[in-house]
Amino acid sequence: MEHPESVDLVTTLARARTLEDPGPDTPAGPAVRAWPGPPSSLPEPDPGELDLRALLGLSLAASDGSGRLRPAPSAGALHPVDAQLVVGTGCALPPGRYGYDPLRHRVHRLGREPDGTLPGATVELSVTARRTVSHYGHRAWPLMLLDTGHVVGALWLAARALGTGASRPRLDGLTEEPLATVHVAPAEGARPDSGAELLARRSAPPPLRGTPPSDVLRALLATAAQASAGELGWCAAVGGPEPELVELAPDGTLRRLAAGEARPTLAVWGAGQPWIADAGAVLLAYGCPSDADAPRIRRAHLRAGFAVHLAHLAAVRHGLAARPVGSWQQADLGAALGAPPGRDWIVHGLALGTTHSDEEKTS
Ligand SMILES: Cc1cc2nc3c(=O)[nH]c(=O)nc-3n(C[C@H](O)[C@H](O)[C@H](O)COP(=O)(O)O)c2cc1C
Repeated sequence: MEHPESVDLVTTLARARTLEDPGPDTPAGPAVRAWPGPPSSLPEPDPGELDLRALLGLSLAASDGSGRLRPAPSAGALHPVDAQLVVGTGCALPPGRYGYDPLRHRVHRLGREPDGTLPGATVELSVTARRTVSHYGHRAWPLMLLDTGHVVGALWLAARALGTGASRPRLDGLTEEPLATVHVAPAEGARPDSGAELLARRSAPPPLRGTPPSDVLRALLATAAQASAGELGWCAAVGGPEPELVELAPDGTLRRLAAGEARPTLAVWGAGQPWIADAGAVLLAYGCPSDADAPRIRRAHLRAGFAVHLAHLAAVRHGLAARPVGSWQQADLGAALGAPPGRDWIVHGLALGTTHSDEEKTS
């Protein structure tokens, strides 16, 4: 079995925040980890059993042969996140440890389950760095942590759609391997919905124009803040009619954090993507100071990915177009707003618009 690549995250993140160019692409390697042993399919569950086939189908399984099209987004569609399942009682699969193959939607039995395994299943997430490094070079690590957070969000939403028992994400950043886990308990009398909205999620292609209504922005900021559990600050840069940065006040209303146009600066900070300057709004997660240690760096990025994923699905439910933005350089939001430097770096973003690009083409 491969060992996780140990990285000095503090140095790696500081470097990823500079303007240094990632250089030419390198080979991404195989899209799936080479799990040993023969693959087996995920069986149909009996009543009351946890339906792992549906859970993984709604969160991790690729729906096209190339593996790019998946329920969870990924920077550069490189999908570095690997999943192992620790299966206990009450599942439609005998207890044990399994490696999951998202391209074939099958599992490989790796061994027996550890003592004390809970009923239901724990999905353990780690990354194969080479996939994301192949395009993003030294900028890959924050993106892979964000990707992992998005996958946790996808699993959590899939568990909810299936009406399973409690599903508990672990995003504390304390371990390198696995980076995060989600435990899903079986539930008697679960009433699954189809999860169609989870499968339909896509990152809307730019341009994403049109300022979202303020009650929707408020709801998305509240969703994101709640999901990140105090780890990050949240605000939104909005365009017309009056460009400004807004945040959620303690009473749940929107208040101005700063007047003026932030989006062109965000386009520069966001790896020089001009379309960001035209987005209707950009939801921003910030924090993760320069002196953060590795567990805190992991936690901030995992939480940001998780929260942006929930905000993305909520935005779609409100009829908005949305696209995550994960690569940020020199994006010291706090310093730009006059606070001391090095405290409030942009960690993740979600660009939002009211107009979908296919509507634009026909209008
Ligand atoms: C952590 C993260 C960062 C991303 N950053 C960007 C970005 O900077 N610019 C962009 O256009 N898309 C970005 N995306 C969107 C991906 O390109 C998109 O998820 C991928 O192409 C797969 O498409 P899908 O989300 O429609 O399934 C990001 C996605 C994630 C999860």
